[in-house]
Parts: sequence; C-alpha cells; structure tokens
Amino acid sequence: MRTLPVISDPKTRQAEFRIGYIWVALATAICAGFTIGAHVSFVIGFDFPLGEGFYSFIQTHGHLQLVGWAGLFIIGISLHVIPRLASVPLTHPHWIPRILWLMAAGLLLRTIGHSVLPYLAGGVFYIPVNWLVAGSGLLEWCGIAMYVSLLLRTLGGIGDIRMQPALLSVRPYFGMMMTGWLLYATLNLILLVQMAVRKGIVMDKGWNEFALQVFIGLVLLPVAFAFSVRMLPLYLTLRAPDWPIRGTAYVYLISFCLLVVPMSPLFSALAPGPARFVSSLGMLLRGGIILWFVWQFDILTRRYEPWTAKQDVQPSPGRRPTRLGLADYGEFGRFEKLVYAAYTWLVLAACFEVLDGAAALLGYQPPVGTDAVRHMYVLGFITLLIFGVSVRLIPGLLKKKCVANATLVEATLWLGNTAAVCRVLPSLIPLGVFEAIPASLVVAQSAFALSGVIGLGAVLCLGINLWRTAGT
Ligand code: HEM
Repeated sequence: MRTLPVISDPKTRQAEFRIGYIWVALATAICAGFTIGAHVSFVIGFDFPLGEGFYSFIQTHGHLQLVGWAGLFIIGISLHVIPRLASVPLTHPHWIPRILWLMAAGLLLRTIGHSVLPYLAGGVFYIPVNWLVAGSGLLEWCGIAMYVSLLLRTLGGIGDIRMQPALLSVRPYFGMMMTGWLLYATLNLILLVQMAVRKGIVMDKGWNEFALQVFIGLVLLPVAFAFSVRMLPLYLTLRAPDWPIRGTAYVYLISFCLLVVPMSPLFSALAPGPARFVSSLGMLLRGGIILWFVWQFDILTRRYEPWTAKQDVQPSPGRRPTRLGLADYGEFGRFEKLVYAAYTWLVLAACFEVLDGAAALLGYQPPVGTDAVRHMYVLGFITLLIFGVSVRLIPGLLKKKCVANATLVEATLWLGNTAAVCRVLPSLIPLGVFEAIPASLVVAQSAFALSGVIGLGAVLCLGINLWRTAGT
C-alpha cells in the first residue's frame, strides 16, 4: 500500500483513485470472508457437529463480509465519486491511506483474533487475545470516524447545494450511509469490549443482530441505490434520474426505522408484542418501497425512454456504434448481466420481505427466515452489483480502456449466481418437499454446503481479472 504522496489532478484538485481499498477488500473476501463462509456452510450443510465456539466463526464471517468486503469497496469508491459529484476536492486527501491502514489493521486483528479465540479458552492467552479483538473494534472505529469526518468536512465546502443537483438528489442516501457507518462501528466496539469484559467467545447475539440490520439497512442498501442512480443510467442508458429519488429515500428511512428500532433488544424485551407488530409493518413497507424504487428506476422494466433520447447528441460519422442500448463496445465484458441479476435478487428479497411482513401482521409464521432474505440482499444484490459495477468502473479509474478478460466476467456471473442460489434456495423449500422426495434433502444440503466454495470461486475470478487489468 502506497502512503504518500497523494497525486492530485492539478486542474480539479481531485485526489487520484486509490486502488488499495479494492485490493484489501478482495484480500479480505478471498482469504477470510468467503473462506470462513465456505467453512461454516460446509459444516452446517454436511451436518458436522458444531463446536461451542462455532458461532464466533459466523460472527467473524458476517463482520468481515460486511465491513471488509462490501464496506471497503464502498469507502474506496465513495472517496473518489462523492467529491466529484459535489464538485469539491477532498479536504484532507492524505487521510485516504491512513483510513485504509486503520481498517486493514482492524480487520486483520479481528480475523485472526476472533477465529482463534474458541481454541484458547481456559489458556493464558485467552484474555489478552480477547482484548486484542476489542482493539480491532477500536481501530475500525477510528478508521470509520476519520472516513465520515473526511466526507463531512469535504461536503461542508460545497456552498449552495442547489447548485449541485447531481448530489442533491442522492444526499439523503449518503446521509443514511454516514449515520449507519458511525452507528455500526460504535455498536461493534461496545459489543467487543463487553465480550472481553464478560470473557466471552461471542458478542451479545441480540445486539449483534441489531448492528447487522443497521449496517445492511443504513449503509449497504442506501449507498447501492445512490451509486446506481448516479452511474447506471449512463452505463445502461436508462431513463434520466428525474423521478422522486429524494422522497423515496425518506420513505425508505421511515420503513427502516419501523423495521429495525423495535428489534433492538431494548424494545423487544420491554414490549415484545407491539415491537413485533411495528417491525412487521416496517418490513412490509421496506419491501414495498424497494419494489417502488426498482420500478421507478426502470432497470428491469424499461418502460421509459433512455436519458439519451432527450439529448441532441449524434455519434460522429464513421464512429463505431456502441452495443445496443449500452454505452460501451463490449470491452468490459457482459457486465450488464451481473447488474440485471443483482437487481433481480433485490426484487426477490423485497418480495419476500413483503410476504414475511404481511404474514406476521396476519398472525402467521413468516414463511422465509431472516438469514435467507439477508443473503438475497448481501450476496445476491450487493455482491453481484459489486462484481458488475467494478469491472465497468475500475478499468477507467486505472486509466485502462478495457477489462483484462471478458470470459472471467462471464465466469463471475455464473459462479456468483450459482453461489447465491445454492446459499438461499435450500432455506426456501418447504419441509413437505423433503419428506415427499427424500433425495431432495441430500441435494439441498450439498448445494448449501458447497455454496461458499462456489462464491469463493466467483470472487477469485473478479480478483484475478482486476489484478490483470491493473497490470496490463
Ligand atoms: C456464498 C457465500 C456465502 C456463504 C456460503 C455464507 C454462509 C453463511 C452462513 C452459513 C451463515 C450463518 C447463518 C446462520 O446463522 O444460520 C452466514 C451468516 C452471515 N452472513 Fe454469510 N455467506 C455468504 C456470503 C455472505 C456475504 C457476501 C455477506 C455480506 C456481504 C454475508 C453476510 C453474512 C452475515 C451478516 C451473517 C450473519 C452473521 C451473524 O449472525 O453475526 N454472507 N453466512
């Protein structure tokens, strides 16, 4: 990782893109996040006995995937994109590598510390390692606080926000993202310190679940919507982003609060019945508003004219036409399929949230579990979106004209979708089917067990492709 100096574009004074975030995100995913996911799915799928500390692997996997894999991609790309959207340079560009160092050190300490903790129980190293794991939370908290502070200071220099319509329309989404980062980092730190004080192996499960909902609902989904709205109309020639994007964000925020706040152990212990009712209402509303977002965004339906129809730009004579309905010549592979697949997973997740919310309100057991819907969001939607957008965006940021290998993009598509199907589908099949067709149980269990290895294959393909792109 290069630290200094940060070379800036002298005209715009914008800092150059830091690929280090992408390498650390990929390294975290390949060496730890997906690998631990592969281990836990293998153990659960093939019915191996779960040791006492098994849940520490699940918590480590969840944290690394959210913060290390998706989170570092978001930080790296947002530090490049947000100042450009706002037309102001970063106030402290030399913080970019410092934030990365803090995050990388925190994630490494967490990976090693929390994974070995169950094996050290009763030994002399148990308590020091437990405090080192708490230290990882402090390092990450410092990195995240610096990141949010850098964005806030930078955005503070905009002046009249009405002069920046591109930023104005997605500002509430970035507001949610920054709040979510701070809330999650603080909760994570408190839970790790509490774990060390208790001399425990895992963090408090109820509050950990709450923190995960905060990260997914306030960071991942809003930032994915904001980047989609600003980037995808250009890449996929969608309709102009002139629909009520801000209003949608506020309704989303209300639905998030209704869904998640009552789920905090504080409220769910105090008044379990009303908390469940309000949370189910929030779930129904969030699923609904996400479906509305996708409908308005028009990415899967294409009911509106593309934004280019309103422009009077004709390709210069003799210029090769771009791919039909797209802005490229195929030099980034069939990245659009990954993006369409990601949005299909999002629609599925939202439909299941509507179903679960409605069932709970009517007094029935929710038909789909939280874990399946969660992986539709984070693996199906967020991960496939990262796969698709990164091969389209990052070559340009590295001043390359194309991605190294279009076949690897195709491989990412097939492996990524297969991993998501194998991870999620077994949890959706009703028990009756397994009773009626006993062989289906073995197939479902094997698919679940192997989903992690397949997902690891997908992220490896992306890593190799981006590495080769950077090296060409
Ligand atoms: C194919 C890839 C993946 C596999 C095989 C996998 C597997 C698993 C398994 C078996 C669990 C435990 C579920 C339970 O408690 O019943 C889990 C939990 C979780 N996973 Fe994944 N996962 C994958 C990808 C991802 C991705 C990409 C993300 C996020 C970007 C993610 C985030 C989480 C979270 C947040 C939890 C909950 C952790 C907790 O309870 O503390 N997973 N995963």
